[in-house]
Amino acid sequence: MKEIIHQFDVSAHSEQLVALWQQVFGYSSLHNAPQFVIDKKLAAGDGLLFVAEADGKIVGSVMAGYDGHRGWLYSLAVLPDYRNQGIGSRLVRHAEKYLSEMGCPKINLQIMKGNEEVQSFYRKLGYEAEQKVSMGKKILANIPGAEPGTAPNGGPAAASGNSGVTEGPVR
Ligand SMILES: CC(C)(COP(=O)(O)OP(=O)(O)OC[C@H]1O[C@@H](n2cnc3c(N)ncnc32)[C@H](O)[C@@H]1OP(=O)(O)O)[C@@H](O)C(=O)NCCC(=O)NCCS
Repeated sequence: MKEIIHQFDVSAHSEQLVALWQQVFGYSSLHNAPQFVIDKKLAAGDGLLFVAEADGKIVGSVMAGYDGHRGWLYSLAVLPDYRNQGIGSRLVRHAEKYLSEMGCPKINLQIMKGNEEVQSFYRKLGYEAEQKVSMGKKILANIPGAEPGTAPNGGPAAASGNSGVTEGPVR
């Protein structure tokens, strides 16, 4: 399988990327709602959202971020039918190349509770587990529909989520 990795294009890729993330992650939180995440990333204007195209459709994604101190990887996903063909690895390397060119000295990522086996995927790419506790805080004023006192995740349960990737306390 030789896919093409593109920088995300809003008109060409939005609908399929939303469907990919709904299928792979099935996040239920308002702050992880796919369209909200895409809109926020585009507003950041850093060009660090990438999609993999194969057979004329979007089959994978990776998002990166660099804040001048650390690079981060997020939303790495490959459609089930396209896994184990190297697409996930090539998406990570593609994002790494951009982060490296920006001067990033270290890349971090988080793995949700329940998805720990994916560590072996990342180890093959040179990542090591680090003894840290990950913490986070939502800024409710910046999450449409999330008001203080609403459900803990800020929204109703997701309709589906079949990847075994469960949502942890923060992402
Ligand atoms: C993780 C994921 C992106 C990997 O994509 P992929 O295209 O299948 O990955 P690759 O084909 O490049 O796999 C490279 C190697 O990692 C292994 N691997 C892939 N996914 C793995 C997983 N979930 N657990 C353990 N090993 C995995 C592959 O078997 C392969 O091993 P090999 O080199 O010995 O053959 C894909 O499984 C996925 O979308 N999972 C659900 C979402 C997810 O967990 N994302 C990561 C969030 S932190």
